[in-house]
Amino acid sequence: MRIIHLSDLHLDNNRCSLTDLRFGRLVRELSSDRYSSDDILLITGDLIENAEHEGAMIHALNQLGRLSEKFEHILLCPGNHDYGNFWGGTPEHMSRFFHLFGGFLKSSTSIPEDVYHRSDRPCDSPFPVVNEIGELLLIGLDTMEGEFEEEIKGSKGDWDWGAEGRLGQRQTSALERLLGRGELKDKKVVVYLHHHPYRNRLIMNRFRDAKIFNEILGQYGNTNLLLFGHNHKFADMSAEAKKYGAGMALEGGSVKNTCWGKARFRVIDMSGSEPEAEEVRISVLQEWWNLIRCRLS
Ligand SMILES: [Fe+2]
Repeated sequence: MRIIHLSDLHLDNNRCSLTDLRFGRLVRELSSDRYSSDDILLITGDLIENAEHEGAMIHALNQLGRLSEKFEHILLCPGNHDYGNFWGGTPEHMSRFFHLFGGFLKSSTSIPEDVYHRSDRPCDSPFPVVNEIGELLLIGLDTMEGEFEEEIKGSKGDWDWGAEGRLGQRQTSALERLLGRGELKDKKVVVYLHHHPYRNRLIMNRFRDAKIFNEILGQYGNTNLLLFGHNHKFADMSAEAKKYGAGMALEGGSVKNTCWGKARFRVIDMSGSEPEAEEVRISVLQEWWNLIRCRLS
């Protein structure tokens, strides 16, 4: 069983946007027979550039619809851009995201829902999203929810510098209950979220309750794979993750940030005792030419 990890697509619904053209190239790559319908496609947030742009939301939904013709399992979690823009989001945009993308935010697990969906779900949040697929148990978290939890309670302790995230108390206690379940001893646990759990000290971009999150992972030590995005860096953070009892930890990069004209993503083989990640590079130089042609036409 393999996981294809994408992140930070920042779709714009503009046929003359370089990011959209590059994502089109990525969709063509994923449609090839190098990838199987059994592969799990997992996207760690920032699907769209700006949630205030209705057309971008619909465009992203259509692209996911195209991919779902091939992949049986598509999982995603939101990033800061999916609930607003770079500076932050609103509960109204959060609600709209759940409404539009609800088909990709479903849970399917033998763990009873009341374990992880107790009370106070803002905007009827489906998070944590929990799916058992074969021997994997995948837990998706929303690192924007806690921002609203504080706002609603009027308890925000420090200034929000923008692009920040917080899981909030509801999700951290749900995660604790989930990781402590006996059923997990036969499972390979994958946790995915948007904000970076180890680069959380700089103002702007912080994951403000990362310390609590890492402590919970460390307490149970049963997370095999941790996937996230946000910083567009494509870093392998597994050495850092080991300190917190997690196996492999990977940041997904972004189609916005290429390396020598190539877009990068990872395919992670989960069939062995340890996850094995392979980096895929596809040339997106042609998309520059397509962009010039588009702008001139
Ligand atoms: Fe982000």
